[in-house]
Amino acid sequence: MFTQEVQEALNHQIRHELYSAYAYLSMSAYCETINLSGIARWMRMQGQEEMNHAMKFFDFINDRGGRVVLEAIDQPPAEFQSPLDVFERALAHERAVTASINEIYRLATVANDYPTQVMLHWFIEEQVEEEKSAGEIVELLKLSGGEGPALLMLDRQLGARKHSDH
Ligand code: FEO
Repeated sequence: MFTQEVQEALNHQIRHELYSAYAYLSMSAYCETINLSGIARWMRMQGQEEMNHAMKFFDFINDRGGRVVLEAIDQPPAEFQSPLDVFERALAHERAVTASINEIYRLATVANDYPTQVMLHWFIEEQVEEEKSAGEIVELLKLSGGEGPALLMLDRQLGARKHSDH
């Protein structure tokens, strides 16, 4: 069984992951309006990946006889300055998610909750990937000036993403 604290933290994390899905969908919508359909597609798939993350927490709570309680999801930003702004915000968001997952791990350690610690190993590795991919795109956008032919090439490259990775 979970301690109350761990169960609450896991429920909060469902909200964080669902908010992430919402935020990436909003970024996708913005990219559609500036005709970057490749980046919009990448963001949409990222949103689907976040839904999968939320469901991993949802299933884990249920599998261990806990109680899932869904919380209100905030409205995500709708307006962005540029593709670079989009990815910088995505990177900042992923860093916040990493901090949140690390905090649940800390709580699970204090509670001697080994199953939760083991489940979180997947997320800890996943966050390394999430920060890496957003960070690389931020750097590419900075290097290329984030406009012109370089931006169109990046749009085409990101649009080739086939499916959500996890
Ligand atoms: Fe579910 Fe992008 O972290």
